[in-house]
Amino acid sequence: MSQRFVRARALHFPELTCSGFDYSEDAVLHIENGYIKRFAPARSFFSDGLEPDVCEHYPNMLLMPGLIDAHVHFPQVEIIASFGDQLLDWLEHYTFPAEAKFADQQYARAAAAEFIELLVAHGTTTAFTYATSHCHSADALFEAAFARSMRLVAGKVLMDRNAPENILDTVATGQADSEYLIKKWHGQGRLGYAVTPRFAGTSSDQQLQSAAELFARYPDTWVQTHLSENLAELAWLQSIVDDFKDYFSIYEQAGLATQRSVFGHCIHLSDRELSRLKETGGIAAFCPSSNLFLGSGLFPLQAIRGEGIPVAIGTDVGAGTSLSMLSTLGDAYRVCQLQNFALDPLEAFYMATLGNAHALHLSDRIGNFCAGKEADFILLNPARNALVAKRIKTSKHIRDELFCYMMMGDDRLVEQTTLLGDIQFQRGAG
Ligand code: GUN
Ligand code: ZN
Repeated sequence: MSQRFVRARALHFPELTCSGFDYSEDAVLHIENGYIKRFAPARSFFSDGLEPDVCEHYPNMLLMPGLIDAHVHFPQVEIIASFGDQLLDWLEHYTFPAEAKFADQQYARAAAAEFIELLVAHGTTTAFTYATSHCHSADALFEAAFARSMRLVAGKVLMDRNAPENILDTVATGQADSEYLIKKWHGQGRLGYAVTPRFAGTSSDQQLQSAAELFARYPDTWVQTHLSENLAELAWLQSIVDDFKDYFSIYEQAGLATQRSVFGHCIHLSDRELSRLKETGGIAAFCPSSNLFLGSGLFPLQAIRGEGIPVAIGTDVGAGTSLSMLSTLGDAYRVCQLQNFALDPLEAFYMATLGNAHALHLSDRIGNFCAGKEADFILLNPARNALVAKRIKTSKHIRDELFCYMMMGDDRLVEQTTLLGDIQFQRGAG
């Protein structure tokens, strides 16, 4: 039996609201065989007989649940921060050529291992990830996550039109490869499959329908795609889709508007689309870093929340410019500021932990320190960034400290990352 007692300052959200946050100046997290056994103030553990020297003790660090990235593309790591273009040109000039390199299986394997390594170094313990259209790229990613007992949801991208030949699949191969991957990986360890039509621009109606059929056959998988990211994209779709009604209708008509569908971006939706998204139960993935970088627009967080649409938040690397969910929360704040709304830091950290877990139907497994949850957590060390360390000396409330972490922090603050009870990343002596 493996046991760990991790003692630190600690924060989590025990309930499905950011206002019920639980912060302790001195808490212990007891982990047994990879799962949370108990989380409580240190004095409760000690009065129950725990010897303090059994604890791993990090008095100046902040312990919190692992961060969850709701939308990221692993083959795009090498094209982060590619200059000059908005979405459609960026796809053509940078993204598609980068993804074509994944035709080489060895290349895909190396990139997958490196990506998982990067995620844990950024404090991300679960990610909803797009592979490329090559079956073996998703295979490689699942293998790399499985080797670290990571909870990861991913899918091979489906795309059968409007892209270079060397990254296109067909309705038949896309369906067969996806089904092969579902049978091989979905439910293995902590892995899950997301049926992943890239977006309406690169999948024919037949392919979208075949994706929907596949999801209907395996209803505990997920669907992930992109929706209404950029105005030129919208105009282009209008010109190529027969009987175009609106963007969301394309997915709805194909049968892809489900409660387990994660729609990346959702920036330029009409009122009709918003109400249909709400009625069909889909999830909107807010990707602020990407939206700022590509100049796509401002995600209307308040309007989407106001509709009652579940919101998840993600980096969208490689259009997002960091794999850090901390800096992504900072970008979310900036996007909201541009719409005269100040995103509360407690709300932001709720989103990146339990909020994402809940929106993505995983809150029975991950997202906080409630007993029985999988022990995925991180330690943040403000001393790793001199400016952060200086600034938080003046903070009197955890809310203010969190705000510094999201506005000024990134992967450098992540001291340690634990997946299912085991330390998978430890920052070296600085
Ligand atoms: N729309 C279709 N494909 C992509 C992609 O790879 N990234 C982003 N940001 N938007 C997309
Ligand atoms: Zn994306």
